[in-house]
Amino acid sequence: KTKKLKDEIFKANKLAALNFHRRLYSKIGHAALEYLYGRGIDDSTIKKFGLGFSPVNGDEVTEFLRNQGFSQEFLLTAGLSLKSVSRKYHDRFKNRIMFPIIDVKNNVIGFGGRVLDNSLPKYLNTPETPVFKKSKTLYAINYAKKSKEDKFVIVEGYMDAIALHQCGIDFAVASLGTALTSEQGKLIKKYRENVVISYDADEAGVNATLRGLDILEGLNLNVSISTVPKGKDPDEFVRKEGIEAFRKMLQNAEPLIEYKIKMYKKDIDLSRPEDKIKYIKKISSDLSLIKDQVKRDVYISIVSKDVQIPENTVRTEIEQFVNRFS
Ligand code: GTP
Ligand code: MN
Ligand code: MN
Ligand code: MN
Ligand code: MN
Repeated sequence: KTKKLKDEIFKANKLAALNFHRRLYSKIGHAALEYLYGRGIDDSTIKKFGLGFSPVNGDEVTEFLRNQGFSQEFLLTAGLSLKSVSRKYHDRFKNRIMFPIIDVKNNVIGFGGRVLDNSLPKYLNTPETPVFKKSKTLYAINYAKKSKEDKFVIVEGYMDAIALHQCGIDFAVASLGTALTSEQGKLIKKYRENVVISYDADEAGVNATLRGLDILEGLNLNVSISTVPKGKDPDEFVRKEGIEAFRKMLQNAEPLIEYKIKMYKKDIDLSRPEDKIKYIKKISSDLSLIKDQVKRDVYISIVSKDVQIPENTVRTEIEQFVNRFS
């Protein structure tokens, strides 16, 4: 029974996506189409990702789907319609550029919708439905899983993923926000062993990023970080600096543990004993997450030399973390 409901939602979403896409290329979608062109997105990319435009107002998509035989109650469940206080059904997505979200089996599981101006919220997503759970979702994985590359590069946003795919980085996926979840990590793990994180370069993101990354390391994925220059995101970076610069940045991605060492050392003074102790305890907790013995040993040796403390002291500290977590 749930299978049938899910299939119905996929069907409705697919029809909605086609409707949005047609509208983008109709007269009413003109400004939206120009917006996309203005951001460097071309027609073949628009087609590849099935981008669209939602009606400016009212209930056009709701009505369209009602005419295809879907009930109002069903369209609420699917997250495509909303019911107003006057009990009238209307479209959830209004006046937005539409990004269909497609899963590994090529089902349209939901949508993201972006405003054309600076109004808020900037993006609106499908709510949780029987087929859509944001924390389990990676945008563009339907394409990235087919890439010949042995890794995924994880970016924050729809536009980052699309811009990268357009210039040949066909292994990009977007986590749709900053904090990575363990469910997203497990999804990655099904397809790849290696991930490069290429998130926006803003201060607030960094701590949330660090936490999300532990999840990936805990799943025994090889994680590295590719840092775009301050204030930019991957989309802006490739547009301004070009694809070769981005590829080079990917090549120079830092292994997670090195990234952490760098981040931790940024705000401390290792000549102060209390800073040094704090640092060793923090980095030991990170070293304890490295499951690969060789990799762990190499970094124990590096850290020990760096802070001039016996390797065994670091080992003992790591043991404590391992015992605490197991
Ligand atoms: P552009 O301005 O179109 O380039 O978007 P962006 O992807 O660079 O935006 P940002 O870095 O702010 O956000 C990254 C991702 O987080 C977006 O692609 C969305 O998936 C998500 N996001 C951003 N803002 C919102 C919001 O207001 N609501 C929700 N639900 N998600 C958001
Ligand atoms: Mn934001
Ligand atoms: Mn951001
Ligand atoms: Mn952006
Ligand atoms: Mn961004």
